[in-house]
Amino acid sequence: MADTPQPEADENWWRGAVIYQVYPRSFADSNGDGTGDLAGVRSRLPYLAELGVNALWFCPWYPSPMADGGYDVADYRDVEPVFGTLAEAEKLISEALALGIRTIIDIVPNHISAAHPWFREALAAGPGSPARERFWFRPGRGEHGELPPNNWPSQFGGPAWTRTTDQDGTPGDWFLNLFDSEQPDLNWNHPDVRAEHEDILRFWFDRGAGGVRIDSAAMVSKDPGLPDLTDEPGVPHPYVDRDELHDIYRGWRSIADSYPGARILVGEVWLPDAERFARYLRPDEMHTAFNFDFLACPWEPARLRTSIDTTLAAHAPVSAPATWVLCNHDVTRTVTRYGRADTGFDFATKAFGIPTDLELGTRRARAAALLTLALPGSVYLYQGEELGLPEVEDIPLDKLQDPMYLRSADTNPGRDGCRVPLPWGGSASPFGFSPAGTTAEPWLPQPADWASRTADAQAADPDSMLSLYRAAMRLRRAEAGLGDGSFAWLDSAPGVLAFRRSPEFVCVLNLADSPAQLPEGTVLLASGPLAEGRLPADTAVWLRG
Ligand code: NOJ
Repeated sequence: MADTPQPEADENWWRGAVIYQVYPRSFADSNGDGTGDLAGVRSRLPYLAELGVNALWFCPWYPSPMADGGYDVADYRDVEPVFGTLAEAEKLISEALALGIRTIIDIVPNHISAAHPWFREALAAGPGSPARERFWFRPGRGEHGELPPNNWPSQFGGPAWTRTTDQDGTPGDWFLNLFDSEQPDLNWNHPDVRAEHEDILRFWFDRGAGGVRIDSAAMVSKDPGLPDLTDEPGVPHPYVDRDELHDIYRGWRSIADSYPGARILVGEVWLPDAERFARYLRPDEMHTAFNFDFLACPWEPARLRTSIDTTLAAHAPVSAPATWVLCNHDVTRTVTRYGRADTGFDFATKAFGIPTDLELGTRRARAAALLTLALPGSVYLYQGEELGLPEVEDIPLDKLQDPMYLRSADTNPGRDGCRVPLPWGGSASPFGFSPAGTTAEPWLPQPADWASRTADAQAADPDSMLSLYRAAMRLRRAEAGLGDGSFAWLDSAPGVLAFRRSPEFVCVLNLADSPAQLPEGTVLLASGPLAEGRLPADTAVWLRG
């Protein structure tokens, strides 16, 4: 790969980066088949450069049966044909780099697709074979092995075990799948599993990848005894946050560090305990991890302040920058979540038909954009958030594809509502997502009323969400105090959060029900109209002063 452009040597680029998350299926469709693809992303690189992002994180683009939107990987060293080719991925990485944008690849270590050669080999080789040792195959409990081997639940509902059928047609052993039954969990005690993933990292770093996002990073190691889950205090969890994980990620870090230009590891680590979370960010482990505490935090001043304080306090001892995340491809869109009575996020409370005030949610999401872009550390921006897209809640049930819905007996809408193809322009679906004249419909239907939400319409409107994001990100690049750096709370009225990032830069956010006094200073940017020295409710402002 001698002629592949490699990221520039800027060792700290990730500490204050804005990283844009691309869900390839829904970003832009270049060939008119109704599904997004890599050529579509390449054609929109100028849009991403204009937005001013430092890196792109791509949800999995590998060959996959798409039982879980690509998180069921059949081959980690190639590209799903519907998305393009490996050569195109290489081109995309180079073209983005030429615009100063790094590429972060999604690595899925906990499980593979049931269509992956390893799993096919394991099924064919039968019980007790070495090929099955790369997974967690076990006989069932009960007189005829008819009960799962333990009580672990799948994250998508139901038991975390699927029973196999032996060659002779009789029911056989069970295999572990913490997610869908098409996603068998790997056994990380097996040397092949570790060696394979280390090689995959090198494969993508050799192709210029600027980092890897580690899927379900805290669930990868299992207690080999596979004990039942219990409420007993003091018993280590059999598959969450196990101590052995740290050694795996130290190995990954040393591979990343052997490449020039700070190739980063960013972990998907959902853990309620901020100190346990920060252990993954020690200097020889991951660079950063997603801040789900902040993502799930309700729109309440005391809760937000506590989340920010807890985050900063947990990161300081390990010298890692915080990340600020409002949304991703798994959670409810921000304008929808903030427009509801319960403004926090919890997978357990996802439901159909929750009343939503989108105008209120949008006002808050605009203020939240200024808050997150002003906090110290890096920011993750999920595609379509810059357009203020709402969760799409009226997708016909027979079009829903997410296993979280499919396994819920129609009770959980799942995650398709935040994965609807982006509207780029025009007045009717596919809103520029697919080329003009395309007959294939977008893989998930777009709402008919998205004309005013397209990127083109918003680019022409100075008051749009897109214009707000563009302006905020321009200022973020220009202001020395933003991104990584110092942070101090300022005294403020009840319901108001105010902080200083540099001698000149202040951010104020009013979460009270009524307007607040605007502090002295020149307004650089506001998330909504200001009234004569007052900061209206659910509004944020950046000030020089
Ligand atoms: C987390 C990913 O973000 C999600 O989309 C996926 O379903 C699970 N991990 C399983 O890979």
